[in-house]
Amino acid sequence: MMPTQESLIVASVDADIAPVWRAAAAYMRARKNDIHVPISYAFARRLIAAYPEADALVVSLAIVLHDIGWHAIDEGRILNEAFGPDMMESDVRILHEKEGVRLAKPLLRGLGYEAAVIEEVCKIIDGHDTRPDPISLNDSLVKDADKLWRFTPAGVAVACDWFRKTPTEYMARLEAKVLPALFRCHSRNWALEDLAASRALLQADLI
Ligand SMILES: [Fe+2]
Ligand SMILES: [Fe+2]
Repeated sequence: MMPTQESLIVASVDADIAPVWRAAAAYMRARKNDIHVPISYAFARRLIAAYPEADALVVSLAIVLHDIGWHAIDEGRILNEAFGPDMMESDVRILHEKEGVRLAKPLLRGLGYEAAVIEEVCKIIDGHDTRPDPISLNDSLVKDADKLWRFTPAGVAVACDWFRKTPTEYMARLEAKVLPALFRCHSRNWALEDLAASRALLQADLI
């Protein structure tokens, strides 16, 4: 069964992290991150439940803050360079990681988090997109949560425009390129379930 909207919403309830969301809200308005990040956070919560040996705090903070660096980058550059043919090597991808670390450090310090937690969160943010292999279990959960939202109807709707594809073309890309890049078996199972449900809902065999 695909994760229902209800199960995602239940998974997203975590009062401890509320101040972090509020502090980061102003940075979430670029690149539809106010849709992407909450859905990815819900997947991170489900992954934390599935992998109890992970550090729930570090994973939660890292997924909430991983993309705040896009706020510092021009929206036109994001669409032209971050999703073009050379997207994985593009300067803006590296830049959004560096800017994310720059913004996350004072934000987390201001909320009173310990230095060791801040350091690990920032290590995950710095490389979350351009580092091919995870440096830890925590990092792998953040990397997978960052991709899993794309398999939901909302993720298809947002990301197909980024890649200038129809929803059906974009779902083919998800299956060919994004699914094999997931690290955890739970992630692959959820992605397959969501992809099948999104294809059915969006009439992928017809339009
Ligand atoms: Fe990112
Ligand atoms: Fe992201």
